Order: sequence, then C-alpha cells, then structure tokens
Amino acid sequence: MNVRRIEVQTNPPYAVHVGPSALKGVLEVGSQESGIFVLADEKAWSLHSGALAGLESAPRLEIAGGEGAKSMAQLEGVLDALTQSGLSRTSTLITFGGGSISDLGGLAASLFKRGMDVVHCPTTLLAQVDAAIGGKTAINLRLGKNLAGSIHQPRSVFADSEVLRTLPDEEWASGLGEALKTALLGGEDSLSSLEAQSSELAHPGSVAISALVADCVQTKARIVAEDPLEQGPRRVLNLGHTFAHAIEHCAGYGTVPHGVAVSVGISLALEASAAMSVLEDVGLPDRVRKLQEALGLPSSLAELRGLHDLGPEGLRAGLAQDKKGAVGQPEFVLVRSPGDLVLGIGMEDSLLQSLLG
Ligand SMILES: NC(=O)c1ccc[n+]([C@@H]2O[C@H](COP(=O)([O-])OP(=O)(O)OC[C@H]3O[C@@H](n4cnc5c(N)ncnc54)[C@H](O)[C@@H]3O)[C@@H](O)[C@H]2O)c1
Ligand SMILES: [Zn+2]
Repeated sequence: MNVRRIEVQTNPPYAVHVGPSALKGVLEVGSQESGIFVLADEKAWSLHSGALAGLESAPRLEIAGGEGAKSMAQLEGVLDALTQSGLSRTSTLITFGGGSISDLGGLAASLFKRGMDVVHCPTTLLAQVDAAIGGKTAINLRLGKNLAGSIHQPRSVFADSEVLRTLPDEEWASGLGEALKTALLGGEDSLSSLEAQSSELAHPGSVAISALVADCVQTKARIVAEDPLEQGPRRVLNLGHTFAHAIEHCAGYGTVPHGVAVSVGISLALEASAAMSVLEDVGLPDRVRKLQEALGLPSSLAELRGLHDLGPEGLRAGLAQDKKGAVGQPEFVLVRSPGDLVLGIGMEDSLLQSLLG
C-alpha cells in the first residue's frame, strides 16, 4: 500500500498519513518550521530514530512510555524543556511514541504559551488506530486515570507501519482489540474486511496492517468530525470500554492490556445488547467471537480469569469507578448491528450480575 492521506474534518482540518514510510513526510513539517521539539518514547526512539532522520538535531526529550509518562511531574518536565529550548507558540511539538506519549505531548502542546501545534507520529498499533487521532489529551491524577486533559487537535499525524514491526505481542494484541471495536463502529464493510484479513493480521508486523489502520482512521475521523468536543455521538467510541475499565481496574492497571480488556468488553456489550433486546443482527455475537479467535483475542471473562484475579465483586467495584452517566450510574454503548450503536444505556443490577458472575 502506498501512503494514504485521510482528512479529519475538524476546524481546521488535518491529514493523517498512513502506510509504510509515512514518516518521510514529517521531514517536510520539520523543514518548514522555525522551531521544532521532539518528545519521544525512549524505546521507540532507540529502535526507530532513523525513520525521523533529519530531525536528530532538533531539541528532544526522551521518556519511558507507559502510564508513568502521564503524570503531572512529566508534564512539567516537558513544559520546562520547551521553555529551555527557546520555543515559541508558533513552534511545533512532534510526538514519537505510543498513546502515553501522544496524550502527554498533546496536553503539553495545548498548554505551552496557551497553545502550540502538535504533530503525532504514533509508534504503537493502538495509537495509530485510536489515541493519536481525535485530539483528546490527558494525564493521570493521584485519584484516577485521564482526569486532567484537553481537546487539542494535532496539525497532522504520520502513522508508519514500519515502526510497528518491533511491537511486543501484547501491544499488538492491544491494538487489534481497539481495531475490532472501530471495525464494529465502521459498519459491515469494515467488519468484513477485518474478517477477510484476520488470520494474517494476528501476527505482529503483518503487511496487511496499513489497510486496517487506514480503515480505522477513516472511521474515527468521521466520528470525531461529527462531534469534535465529545458532546454526544462521539461517545460510541466507548463501545466495550465501561466493562474494559472495570476489568483493568479490578486486575490492576497495566496487567491486562487495554485493547485486550476492550475485546472482552465488546463481548459483554453484545451479550447485554441481546439480553436487552437491542441487538437486531442476532448472528453478530458468533461472528465477533470467531473474529476474536482468529485475531488471538479473548472473547469472555472466563478466558481472562485463568490469568487474572477478576472476581464479580472486584468487577462491580471497578464499574462503580466509571461513572460516566448523568446520574452517576455507569453507562454502556449497546449494538443493534455493525455501524448501528445505541448510546447512554444503564443496566439492571440483575443483568450486570449475570454478565459479571
Ligand atoms: N487520546 C485518546 O483518544 C486515547 C485513546 C486511546 C488510548 N489513549 C491512551 O493511550 C495510552 C496507551 O497507549 P499505548 O497502548 O500506545 O501504550 P504506550 O504508549 O504506553 O506504549 C506501550 C509500550 O510500547 C512501547 N513502544 C512504543 N512504540 C514501540 C515500538 N514501535 N516498538 C516497540 N515498543 C514500542 C513503549 O515503550 C511502551 O512500553 C493510555 O494511556 C490511554 O489512556 C488515548
Ligand atoms: Zn480504548
């Protein structure tokens, strides 16, 4: 696949470049600007700095990826480094790393001198299909995840498949879980092309990955453009996430990869959709289960319970943490059919008990 350019129609619009060697385009951003600063995941940088050749002389801060990157101390570190490097609000911050780095860098860019441009170069599958698109930024506070953030759309995004070759298996699986969600939101065409490529895509570094990333970016771009500030329809992106957050909370954050928890969350959301008579496409749960199996993703709590402590009580406590709804009750996204979702649904206690039991 050649590099594809996908527009996100926010105000102003921006382009996401997807495909092998997409990162070559960053050099143009670099040479056009008066001031550039690179915020890099230290592991991704050590493996792939060659892909950003030409930017090695730009000031740079390397930090470890993972949730530890999303802290107040790291945010201050990035803002200090931008200041010490003499950057102005017309300079550009380039992030090079997974979602932890784009979340931190995006927030720093939105705050520095009241806002500078940010360009994301996502180096994990999860960040290419999700985190680097849509402008949501965040760090964690002592009391919880993603509690301080902003919406700051990037000026452009470069999703290069070459850098994904070095991803560990669990990071690959995590990205596939998020891609499965996006394919369900995308509709029948997205879901069937994922099915057609599934056994090939299960292997880290698959050459089919750019087509999947492009499809996910297109779907996310459409959803974000409809609702850039997440006032309503964009919440479909939370499909499977209320359950996933409960799983992650209960097992201990960082134990179950996020997208893997989302995969099980999708199965639970489908089960709930059937139980609440929302599901119209009755063959969908079976189809999704086969797809999860082909992709190497779990489709039930039972599969995770062999490896993690996920008792019903702990999961209920995890759900209680995730009070997204207006009345402080957890809310769920349910499914009618591929591409047709229902937002903001509360659930009877008895149903939750049978799903989590
Ligand atoms: N802003 C959003 O819309 C959004 C959406 C989804 C997720 N997120 C956030 O994204 C974060 C998770 O992002 P992530 O899954 O990318 O994890 P991550 O950024 O923590 O990276 C995971 C690991 O992969 C390593 N890594 C990165 N690139 C690599 C490469 N090319 N080869 C080998 N190793 C590499 C990192 O060093 C790290 O150890 C979470 O904090 C989540 O809240 C944000
Ligand atoms: Zn997610």
